[in-house]
Parts: sequence; structure tokens; C-alpha cells
Amino acid sequence: MEDTRIKKIADTVSTYPDFPKPGILFRDIFPVLADPAVFNDLINVMVERVQASHPTPDVVVGLESRGFLFGTPLALALKVPFVPVRKKGKLPGEVKQVSFSLEYGTDIFEAQAGRIKAGQNVLIVDDLLATGGSMKAACELVTSMGGEVTLCLVCIELVDLKGRNKVEHPVDTILKF
Ligand code: PRP
Ligand code: ADE
Repeated sequence: MEDTRIKKIADTVSTYPDFPKPGILFRDIFPVLADPAVFNDLINVMVERVQASHPTPDVVVGLESRGFLFGTPLALALKVPFVPVRKKGKLPGEVKQVSFSLEYGTDIFEAQAGRIKAGQNVLIVDDLLATGGSMKAACELVTSMGGEVTLCLVCIELVDLKGRNKVEHPVDTILKF
């Protein structure tokens, strides 16, 4: 059952060589969102992965911007708060921040202070794991705010980049390319 859904999701992802820079093989998740049946299957598979993990999350954190697309439906399905982690300068009020490097660049992540409470179990969601720099930084940010990262759940893992080795918390991925 799950294998059929996952194969269909994998077949729906598009691939673009040399985007946005030469040498990058870009995996485009947006065709999945363009097909409601496939998108629904992906969210259901992600919910099942979370339900199979322990402990259950108190908060879902999504990473800007494609992580929002999967983090928000997951938070709704799990009936827990969604907290966005955004690139620098986009969140108002007091923020906590961490800097990090990407497969193609560097950036700073921020979250609004107080959105994660000490001891809360946190699920971090993103669309894709490449070098792991974004996920590692998000884990550091959540931990610095007092949260316990219980699971990092990602739709696409670029296995050759070994990003999961950089992350010191459990990582689960739906598709491996
Ligand atoms: C992409 C992707 C992940 C990150 C993965 O985000 O959505 O968040 O890169 O790369 P890493 O494992 O090497 O850190 P991007 O910064 O392109 O932002 P976007 O989601 O707004 O497109
Ligand atoms: N984000 C970082 N690396 C990526 C890739 N190869 N494809 C899609 N999104 C990415």
C-alpha cells in the first residue's frame, strides 16, 4: 500500500539539471502539490511516519519556505501548533536566530521568541534534505529555545550529499534520490 503511494509521489517529482546554478540537480516538489491525490497521499504518509515515532510532538516547526507547505497540513492533522522558522528579517517582535550554510549559499534562520516552550517535543519539517545545513541549524535554533527535537521529517533526501550525518537528531525521509 505505502510502496504504491511512495512510488507515485517519487514519479511526480520533477528533476532539473543545473538549476539554480551549474552543477545543482534540482528536485522540484511542486508537481506533487499540483496533483491533489498525490499531495494527499504524501501528507498521509508523513502523518503515519510521525505517528510511528515517539514521543508525539507538541509543536511542528516548518522551514521557510517549502517546509511550510508540508508543516502546516501536518500540524493541522496532528492538532498541534505550527511554528515557522524564517529567513532573517521577516518575523516581527523578539526573535532567536542561528546562521548556516546551504547547498548553494548561506543564510540566517529566525523564530519568534516564546513560540517553543522549555521541554516541548518538536517535529521539524522540510521539503528536502541536501547538505543538511538547514536542518542542523533548525535543530540548533529549536534546542536553544528549550525544545527537544524528536524527529526531523523531510519529503526528499539527496542521499549522496549525506546531509543526515550532519543532523544529531532522528531523521526520517519519504523519498530518497
Ligand atoms: C532548500 C530546501 C531546504 C534546504 C535544503 O531551501 O527547501 O530547506 O534548501 O538544503 P540543505 O540541506 O543543503 O541545507 P531554500 O533555501 O532553497 O529555500 P526555499 O524553501 O525558500 O526554496
Ligand atoms: N534545495 C537545496 N538543494 C536542492 C536541490 N538539489 N533540489 C531542490 N531543492 C534544493
